[in-house]
Amino acid sequence: MAAEDALRISSLRDKVAIVTGASSGIGAATSVLFAKLGARLVLNGRDLGSLTNTAQQCGECGAVEPLLVPGDLTDEEMVKMLVEQTISRYGRLDVLVNSAGILTMGSIETTDLAQYDKVMNINVRSVYHLTQLCVPHLIQTKGSIVNVSSVNGQRSFPGVLAYCMSKSAIDQFTRCTALELASKQVRVNSVCPGVIITEVHRRAGLDEEQYAKFLERCKETHALGRPGKVEEVASAIAFLASDAASFITGINMPIDGGRHAMCPR
Ligand SMILES: NC(=O)c1ccc[n+]([C@@H]2O[C@H](COP(=O)([O-])OP(=O)(O)OC[C@H]3O[C@@H](n4cnc5c(N)ncnc54)[C@H](OP(=O)(O)O)[C@@H]3O)[C@@H](O)[C@H]2O)c1
Repeated sequence: MAAEDALRISSLRDKVAIVTGASSGIGAATSVLFAKLGARLVLNGRDLGSLTNTAQQCGECGAVEPLLVPGDLTDEEMVKMLVEQTISRYGRLDVLVNSAGILTMGSIETTDLAQYDKVMNINVRSVYHLTQLCVPHLIQTKGSIVNVSSVNGQRSFPGVLAYCMSKSAIDQFTRCTALELASKQVRVNSVCPGVIITEVHRRAGLDEEQYAKFLERCKETHALGRPGKVEEVASAIAFLASDAASFITGINMPIDGGRHAMCPR
């Protein structure tokens, strides 16, 4: 049986899922996979054109037309609206995937507090806020949450300080909320990707030449000798969100070609 079939039988069919970061990269691939698996989707991102593109791909999989709620997740009113519109359209919420995030470069010597605030606001504070508003609905459905963290939360890298700190916070947020919600049968897990080919590194300032070199170096920095693909993260998210992972909560799952296990030699 194909893994996709196993997941379909298992549970995502007709489940209502909010996916943030759905306009690009990992969030977009997760939305399309969830659509293939029969989920009913609420998609958030800032760029309406890209979000519409993801929705079209979901539609091509035969999914119910996703509800689009575009906007900036650092806007508290926007986050409230995202949850309100979800409940008003579907009357329930089964899955929350927190994929929206940004990467910024810089060290303790080169960054300022404005950069720190920007990263923490989107990567941590908005995740805290959206999750908080979703929890009462997830308790009703005994639903699940998947946070998109990073190998940078578990391992330490120079030059991406605020980002590393933000992802460590997400790992701890995942474990703590998993314990807080376990008695209510809500599961909370995170995926911790290594380098995955998306827009995130170029948005953080790498030009095409630097990005090509960065990807080339992944042959050494990832045990499997390559960067990952968005679909490889999406399938782990779908697994953790589904009943196939019914006895898994509080994990920070590396999806990183073995990078988390590597030591300098
Ligand atoms: N790619 C990697 O190598 C990698 C590795 C480890 C972890 N991650 C994590 O994976 C997640 C997804 O990143 P990606 O690689 O898919 O990057 P991406 O292609 O740059 O996508 C980032 C997504 O986050 C959304 N976003 C950013 N700021 C937002 C805000 N203020 N409000 C609402 N949405 C916002 C973007 O929306 P718009 O485009 O519409 O603005 C976009 O949909 C992030 O949390 C990232 O830290 C990525």
